[in-house]
Amino acid sequence: MTHAVLSALGLGNEESGTYLGQGEWSKTRDAGVIEPTDPSTGEVLAKVHASSEADYEKIVERARESFKVWRTTPAPRRGEAIRLCANALRENKDALGSLVSLEMGKIKPEGDGEVQEMIDIADFAVGLSRQLYGLTMHSERPGHRMYEQYHPLGVVGIISAFNFPVAVWSWNAFIAAVCGDICIWKPSPKTPLTAIASMKICNDALREAGFPDIFFLFNDAGTELAQKFVDDKRIGLISFTGSTAVGRKVGERVAARMGRSLLELGGNNAMIVDESADMKLAIPAIVFGAVGTAGQRCTSTRRLFVHEKVHDEIVEKLVSAYKQVEGKIGDPNAAGTLMGPLIDDASVQRYLGAIEKAKAAGGEVRAGGEAMTDRKGHFVKPTIITGVPNSHEVIQTETFAPILYVVPFKDIDEAIEMQNDVPQGLSSAMFTMNMRVAEQFLSAAGSDCGIANVNIGTSGAEIGGAFGGEKETGGGRESGSDAWKVYMRRQTNTINYSDALPLAQGIKFDL
Ligand code: UN1
Repeated sequence: MTHAVLSALGLGNEESGTYLGQGEWSKTRDAGVIEPTDPSTGEVLAKVHASSEADYEKIVERARESFKVWRTTPAPRRGEAIRLCANALRENKDALGSLVSLEMGKIKPEGDGEVQEMIDIADFAVGLSRQLYGLTMHSERPGHRMYEQYHPLGVVGIISAFNFPVAVWSWNAFIAAVCGDICIWKPSPKTPLTAIASMKICNDALREAGFPDIFFLFNDAGTELAQKFVDDKRIGLISFTGSTAVGRKVGERVAARMGRSLLELGGNNAMIVDESADMKLAIPAIVFGAVGTAGQRCTSTRRLFVHEKVHDEIVEKLVSAYKQVEGKIGDPNAAGTLMGPLIDDASVQRYLGAIEKAKAAGGEVRAGGEAMTDRKGHFVKPTIITGVPNSHEVIQTETFAPILYVVPFKDIDEAIEMQNDVPQGLSSAMFTMNMRVAEQFLSAAGSDCGIANVNIGTSGAEIGGAFGGEKETGGGRESGSDAWKVYMRRQTNTINYSDALPLAQGIKFDL
C-alpha cells in the first residue's frame, strides 16, 4: 500500500528518479534501486529507480538545448516561470511539507517551514528577475562608454543534502533560473522522494504554461554519475551542499577543469552568552538551535560559550528544558512533537561515538547521552556535555546530531577567540545586552563566520541574506542578497562612439 503522504502528491510505490524533460520520466529499470526509508520506523517508503549513464547524457544534452532558448528569454519572463512555481508550491505546501517530514524526519512545522523557504526564495527570484543590475563606469577615454552586464552562465548542477532536501535546491534553482540557467539536480540518496515530488510540482506548472524545460533530475544509485557530473565540462557551476570531506573533493575536481563551484559545507556553530544576556531570549534560542531538526542543520548550535558567572544557572535551565523536549520526541508528523529521529543508523552511531569520546576526555553528560532503544527508528536523546575543552578533537569536529558542548569563559576576548578557533565558519550568535560586546562580536576582529547574529540563534537564517560561510565551510554564498552573481558570467563592455582610437593609459602607438 502506498503511503498516504505519497499518494497526496501523486507518487506511488515505485518511481523513476530521472526527469528527462519534455514531460518524460525515464523508464530505466536496471541502474539500481534507491530505497528511501521513514527514519522514525525504518520502513521503506518506495522504490526509486536510479538513473543510467544514457539518462544522464540525455539530460545534459537536453539541458544544453534548452539553454539556447532560455538564455535569450527576457529575465522578467523567466521570473514569471518562477512565479508559477511559487503558486504551485503554495497549493502543495501541506502535502510536500508532510513528505519532507516523513522522508527526512524533521517535525511537520519544520517540513512546512522548508516549503515556505521555497516559496519565499521564489518570490525573491521573481523580483530579482527585474534587478540583475550591472554598473556603468566612466571611461578614461573621450567618446567612450563603459558598462558591465551579467549573462546567463549555462547549465548549473545542484547536489543537495538530506537535511534540507528541497529548500536548498530551490535557493539554487530558482535564482539560477531567473539568471537564465538550466538546472540539473542530484539530490541526496536518502531523500529522493521529496526531490521527485518537487520536480513534479514545478515542472507540471511550467509545462502547462508552455515554458521550456529548465529543471532536470537524476538519482545516482552509487557515486559514478555524481563524479561524472562534477567532472563534466558542460556543467558551468556545481553547487554542492554536504560534508567538508566530500565538498573538498568536489571543489578540487571542479577547479581542475576550471569550472565554478559553490560550496556549502560543514558548520560548527557557536553561541556566546555573556553575563548581561536576557535569559528569556537566550534559553529558547539555545534549545531550538541545538535540538531543532535533531541537530541536523548546517546551522545547528553545537558549542555554547557562557560567562562563568551565569554558567551554572544556564546549564540548570537547559537541563530542565531538555527534560521537556525528551517527553516530546517521536513521530515527526504528529502534532506536538518537538524532535524527530536522526536520518539513519550511521548517524546514531556517530552520535554515540562522539559522546564516548567526550566522556573519555573528561566530559560530563548533563542531559541525554543515549539512543532511544525502546522504539523503532533512529531516535536519540538531545545531549548536553560540559567539561570538554574547545580545543578537543570531538568539539572541533561537526557531529550531525543534537549534542551541545558547554564551555565557560571569563572575558569576551577569550569567548570570541574560542568561537573562531575551529576549522569551520558558518554561523555564530551572541547573546548580550551590552552594546560594546555586541559590536565587538560583529567587528572585523569579531566572529569569523559567514553569519553572525545578536540576540537570535545560529539557525533559522532568512532567505533574503546571502547564506554560507568561511574556512572549511567552503566560502560559497547562495540564496539572497547578491548571491545571484555566481550563477551568471560577468562581462565588461567598452564602446567607442568617437572618430578616434585613443589607447588606454595614454599610450601612443604611432604607425
Ligand atoms: C542547512 O542546514 O543546510 O538557517 C540550511 C537555517 C535554514 C537553512 C539551513 N534556513 O537554519
